[in-house]
Amino acid sequence: MLISKTDAIQQLKNSQIVAIPTETVYGLAARYDDIKAVEAIFAIKERPYFDPLICHVSDVKMLDLLVNTINPLAKKLIEQYWPGPLTLVLPKSSKVSDLITASLDTVAVRMPNHPIALEIIKEVGVPLCAPSANKFGKVSPTTGKHVEEEFDGKVAIVDGGDTSIGIESTVVRVLDDKLEILRPGRITASELRVLFPEIEITTIKKDPASPGHIDSHYQPTKPFYLVDRTKTKDFLLANIFTEWQLDENPLLAARKLYADMREQSNTTKGFYCIKDATLNHGLWEAIWNRLEKASYSKEYL
Ligand code: TXA
Ligand code: MG
Repeated sequence: MLISKTDAIQQLKNSQIVAIPTETVYGLAARYDDIKAVEAIFAIKERPYFDPLICHVSDVKMLDLLVNTINPLAKKLIEQYWPGPLTLVLPKSSKVSDLITASLDTVAVRMPNHPIALEIIKEVGVPLCAPSANKFGKVSPTTGKHVEEEFDGKVAIVDGGDTSIGIESTVVRVLDDKLEILRPGRITASELRVLFPEIEITTIKKDPASPGHIDSHYQPTKPFYLVDRTKTKDFLLANIFTEWQLDENPLLAARKLYADMREQSNTTKGFYCIKDATLNHGLWEAIWNRLEKASYSKEYL
């Protein structure tokens, strides 16, 4: 069900959950201080409580509700990238419920670069926690229609058209003297290394304190295989399944990634994508990260 921005603000104030557009993917939003509404997000997404949520702010002042201190590294990242697709994992304040953070002592925060999201958060007046608006482990939504299909029309949606980035934000754990990338995204490791040449920056693939590191994720509804380019000739399924080609420009490949995966699921018996391992830099890292998880449990051919 599509609703207006004004109705969304009212409904969020009244403890309802509402799907809103951001520049990355659509999020399913609730007030951060409303336990019942936050519980409703977990319920409708069928999301396990061990996977914590990102809190979204519309200005830096709002961060005071979520974190106690902002170290110099975090300050610089905020100045450089907010509003934008960068989520910071910082020590949490006592005002943030354990439900949001899965009882971790950190909270994930970001300021989305989308006029509708920013206005809604500002008018509600408190941070909104919002995971991607899809069922747990499934493909993220990049249009209002995707959200409608995902939840059979049971969720109120503010339609903001197609999202411009198309994949979720980069998640970075900010320590005093190093940065740990927990989820690759549009803000890349190489970009961060240019900004902080003195700082250690690592990409972490498996971390017990990062519950989002589940092997299977972003799963389409039809079989999907990621295929090693050097072994393509042996790929027998090519006779049965449809080849899906990514755009050569990673910005466009990312923007269309999830919409294409939904389209392939709707129109084929199964599909495959040939991985070009030479494309291992910049935004490609985030794209392969999503596709490896989307094809997880299928043999990597
Ligand atoms: O672009 C995005 O980030 C979108 C839009 C809606 O903002 N949101 C999004 O949320 O992707 P979600 O819930 O689908 O992914 C949040 C990720 C999960 O992998 C979660 O485990 C991780 O962030 N996360 C949240 N809080 C964390 C924390 N305190 N420590 C480590 N990882 C955390
Ligand atoms: Mg998600």
